[in-house]
Amino acid sequence: MPYPAAIRKTYIYQDSNSSSDTLAPMFLKPNWRILTIGDGDLSFSASLWNRFKPAQLTATVFDSQQTLADKYQYHSIGQLNTNANQQVLFGFDVTNPDTWNHLKKHSFDLVIFQFPLVPAFSDPNYFHNMGDISINTLNRLLLRKFLIHCNEFFLDPNGQQLCYITSKDVKPYSEWNIENSLNRGLKHIKYLGSMPFNISDFPGYKIRNVDRDKHVKDTQGITYIWSSKTGNKHDIIKSRGLIAKSHQGEKYCEFCKAGPFVSAGDKSLHERSKKHQLMQQYEDQYARAIET
Ligand SMILES: C[S@@+](CC[C@H](N)C(=O)[O-])C[C@H]1O[C@@H](n2cnc3c(N)ncnc32)[C@H](O)[C@@H]1O
Repeated sequence: MPYPAAIRKTYIYQDSNSSSDTLAPMFLKPNWRILTIGDGDLSFSASLWNRFKPAQLTATVFDSQQTLADKYQYHSIGQLNTNANQQVLFGFDVTNPDTWNHLKKHSFDLVIFQFPLVPAFSDPNYFHNMGDISINTLNRLLLRKFLIHCNEFFLDPNGQQLCYITSKDVKPYSEWNIENSLNRGLKHIKYLGSMPFNISDFPGYKIRNVDRDKHVKDTQGITYIWSSKTGNKHDIIKSRGLIAKSHQGEKYCEFCKAGPFVSAGDKSLHERSKKHQLMQQYEDQYARAIET
């Protein structure tokens, strides 16, 4: 069912200086081919299309079309698939190539995953079968697979080669250590920096709860950016001052984003704290998981 008019604020992007170089608030250009991943109710993709009119948009949903319609009273299914340059795919699991093997390889400039989160698993044996793996590690592994598959399958090597993950800087998301941990063992794709995510740039977008018909209000988000094009070669570096990683170096703890520490003793006190010990466990578990 579409959103009622009071909720849906369709907004057509009009810019007096409209050209293929027009910069959007999230770094997007109209001539890009964009793939969205895990769009809960398709309201992000619909808003992105309405506002920015990219050259091509493929919107994907993890759930089947029926599950989506049953889960969310209001959704944006009817707003997409209305144009030859749009495509909507259901049952698309970014970790599983069998669910997207019909997608044309290497055909996108940008892949976006908004507020990723592994779903609750209905199979009670799931975690048992996965050994001692925590939900924290599962979420990191989801994001790692996303980045690897972007690089190997989705992104055009001659295109922009951009991956965006928007998430929140509060627990439990901040405990995924997105800026640092995900770089581990990724040879061909590098973290470039972040930009604030402003939901008011996407009228009609409702950030969805992963398993329930609820949406999250006024979420402060951060969009983290990766690319296999690095250095000053990338337009995004030249055009927009990205926020660099913070809390790097000896005087800081990059896991917990703590510091500066005034002395070695101060740092060691932090490293004995419960918070740090937990983060260390998450880091160790993730390191083991990606080795296997
Ligand atoms: C918190 S919801 C956010 C939904 C939507 N992106 C939004 O911003 O409203 C997390 C989303 O991640 C999706 N997701 C989880 N695992 C996924 C996977 N393996 N492949 C694709 N999507 C996945 C879920 O289906 C869910 O829609």
